[in-house]
Formats: sequence, C-alpha cells, structure tokens
Amino acid sequence: MPAFAPFTLATQRLQLRFLSTADVPALYRMYSDAEAMRYWSSAPWDDMRQAEAYFAAALAGYESGELLRMGIEADGQLAGVVNLYSFNRQNQRCDIGYMLDRACWGKGYMQEAMAALLDHAFRVWSLHRIEADIDPRNTASAKLLKSLHFVYEGHMRERWIVNGEICDTDFFGLLRADWIAAR
Ligand SMILES: CC(C)(COP(=O)(O)OP(=O)(O)OC[C@H]1O[C@@H](n2cnc3c(N)ncnc32)[C@H](O)[C@@H]1OP(=O)(O)O)[C@@H](O)C(=O)NCCC(=O)NCCS
Repeated sequence: MPAFAPFTLATQRLQLRFLSTADVPALYRMYSDAEAMRYWSSAPWDDMRQAEAYFAAALAGYESGELLRMGIEADGQLAGVVNLYSFNRQNQRCDIGYMLDRACWGKGYMQEAMAALLDHAFRVWSLHRIEADIDPRNTASAKLLKSLHFVYEGHMRERWIVNGEICDTDFFGLLRADWIAAR
C-alpha cells in the first residue's frame, strides 16, 4: 500500500489527526482502563512501553500504508482513536477498530468521528467494504455500528482467547453502496 500522507478531518466538535508522541500518556490511560478494555482482543495494558509500541506501530503504519491510526481530538485533548487496518487492495476493503476514553463516552463522539472517516474512506479512497469484528456482549459497540449503517453478518464461535477467556465474535460489514445510499 502507498504511505499515508498526513491529513486531518474536521467535524462539528472533533478533529481527526495523525498521532504524535505527545499522545502516548493519553493512549496509555485509555488502553490500561480495565472497563474500556473489557471486550478488547487483548488484556488491558500495564506498562507504558505498550503505549510506546502502539505509537511506534502507528508511525510504521503511516509509512507502510497498512495501518491508519487516527487520533480523535476534542477540546484540544486526545479523546480516542479509530484504526483502519488489514487493508486488502485487491478487494478494496479493510477492518475498523475504535477506542474512546471512558470520560468521553455517551457524547456521540465516536459516531461523529467514524462517520467522518468512513465518508473519507468510501468517497475519497473509494474503498468497497469495511468490516468490524466485535464481542457480542459489547452492546455499546454494536449500537454504534448499527447507527453507522453497518449490517450484522453473522456470529463466529470462540474466535478469540483473551487472558484465558474464550470469546465469540459478531461480525459486521458496511458496503460503500450502503453508506452512499444511507447518507
Ligand atoms: C464502543 C464505544 C466507542 C462506544 O462509545 P459511545 O460513547 O457509546 O459511542 P458514541 O461516542 O457514538 O456515543 C453514543 C452515545 O452518546 C449519546 N449521545 C449524546 N450526545 C450525542 C450526540 N450529540 N450525537 C450522538 N449521540 C449522542 C447517544 O445517545 C449514545 O448513548 P446511548 O448508547 O446511551 O444511547 C465505547 O464504549 C468504547 O470506546 N469502548 C471501549 C473500546 C471498545 O470496546 N471498542 C470496540 C471494540 S470492537
């Protein structure tokens, strides 16, 4: 994939932008929060070096074009991250993942941020399909995806083992045509 040149997306309340080294402490705060990480695919972080490695992976992703980590900024603070990854050029698809600081839940920030990024991905990059794989117990995540017109496409049994806990997956997909028709 070609590298991602830095870009920003502005919404009514938010700014989506590339991550910077100054974001590392806020990333650590989000990903070490056991409640926010309850349905994540890995255990909560317990070492600042995990935040540094996450940021290093973000830089490598911008360079390789294989991973896009967009910081979500609200009122000048990092409020969350939305990730596009597993890009498949032939099939013009990728996966999406997202994390919002718990202090920012219930404000519609993620819906606003993802709408901007999805619009960019479908209209500017002409992606064909975006997929999300969530824990079926993650009702906030399912609600968010449905509000963004993702379609529930099926249940996969015992797809993840996180900290020894075996977890199922609910799988969602959004087509460019769905998005354009809905918006
Ligand atoms: C998944 C996650 C991003 C959802 O967060 P969220 O705050 O519910 O989602 P949004 O930012 O879109 O906000 C929607 C909520 O804000 C409310 N809201 C308030 N003001 C709003 C506004 N102006 N516009 C839209 N919604 C608004 C909505 O009613 C909704 O609340 P409700 O679910 O109680 O009805 C969050 O729970 C999270 O980060 N979890 C941890 C990480 C995680 O599990 N990620 C997914 C892994 S697959």
